[in-house]
Amino acid sequence: MLDIKVTRTTHPAKKPEGPITSFGKIFTDHMFLMNYTEGIGWHDARIEPFHDLTISPACVVLHYGQEMFEGLKAYYGVDGKVRLFRPIMNARRTNSSNRRLCIPELPEEMFVEAVKAIVAVDRDWIPTDPDTSLYIRPFIFGTDAFLGVAPSQTYLFCIILSPSGAYYASGLKPVGIWIEDDYVRAVRGGMGFAKTGGNYACSLAAQVKAHDDGYSQVLWLDGVERKYIEEVGAMNIFFKIGGRIVTPMLNGSILPGITRDSVIQVCRSWGMEVEERKISVFELIDAQKSGRLEEVFGSGTAAVISPVGKLRYVDEVMTIGDGSIGPVSQKLYDTITGIQWGKIADPFGWTVEVV
Ligand code: PLP
Ligand code: COI
Repeated sequence: MLDIKVTRTTHPAKKPEGPITSFGKIFTDHMFLMNYTEGIGWHDARIEPFHDLTISPACVVLHYGQEMFEGLKAYYGVDGKVRLFRPIMNARRTNSSNRRLCIPELPEEMFVEAVKAIVAVDRDWIPTDPDTSLYIRPFIFGTDAFLGVAPSQTYLFCIILSPSGAYYASGLKPVGIWIEDDYVRAVRGGMGFAKTGGNYACSLAAQVKAHDDGYSQVLWLDGVERKYIEEVGAMNIFFKIGGRIVTPMLNGSILPGITRDSVIQVCRSWGMEVEERKISVFELIDAQKSGRLEEVFGSGTAAVISPVGKLRYVDEVMTIGDGSIGPVSQKLYDTITGIQWGKIADPFGWTVEVV
């Protein structure tokens, strides 16, 4: 059991009025903090008023990016209960990222306990309007003031909370996606499977290019042949081709999304065939030309289920569907968010209540 010292703010911030439509711009009154020191381990778990952090200009994270982050949400249910969605998966993925980045591991129960504790303290901040939730951002970074390239000997684990609406301003309206044929995000043996800032920093140039051309996200191809589909900037990707659901297999260079895993399990529970395999951009183009590319959608904590209406690859622009969300995408959205908001039963035992 984690011994958490709680210091409450004496100056609570004014909560936003009306439904929240932004993502990641508003923060709650408190944050969770815990330090790691080599030889001591994780220590000083505490909840404090939300505040700026002070670090040395020589701090290892500023120079060499030794950090990881996670993303999950707390949902205010239709029955007034607060639920987390599969937080143990975020705890496991934290340790997977940590191993890749030489950050000390955290006991899984400690991670979940810390998340529950901070959400309980700022429970009043969980938005209650439809399609809103409390986005939870745990992160760990090396804090040593040292310019040599070596794993830090001290770390800070923080959790901040952000009441949020939809990640994409368009909500459930299909978005256009740019298949990037020049830049790559990750290579096998690299750190594509880890949730770490560097993977996002290296995505920005392509994202700017895509935005300039009117596309909202980038779809990455593999870093070697630049031919096989990997994932989108902040979500995994699914295709419905000739009645089957197809998604790139986990190969070490894409993020093992928790929503991805949930989509696969839900589809299989409906008796649908799901293939996790390599899928080339040329297979997609052929499927679209022959009318077999029926639906495309992304999956992610922030994005939930996000339909794709247009895919661009070099000179090819593929249109998918009729400009509205496809039936499987809609059913998945309704099922996954239904479980999250306590509107329907949770046969998988995925939700964890915060009391
Ligand atoms: N891929 C990337 C690059 C992401 O940033 C995310 C978001 O977390 C995902 C996939 C989806 O992962 P999850 O479903 O666990 O949120
Ligand atoms: C999430 O979905 O939790 C993410 O981390 C996406 C993020 C990069 C905005």
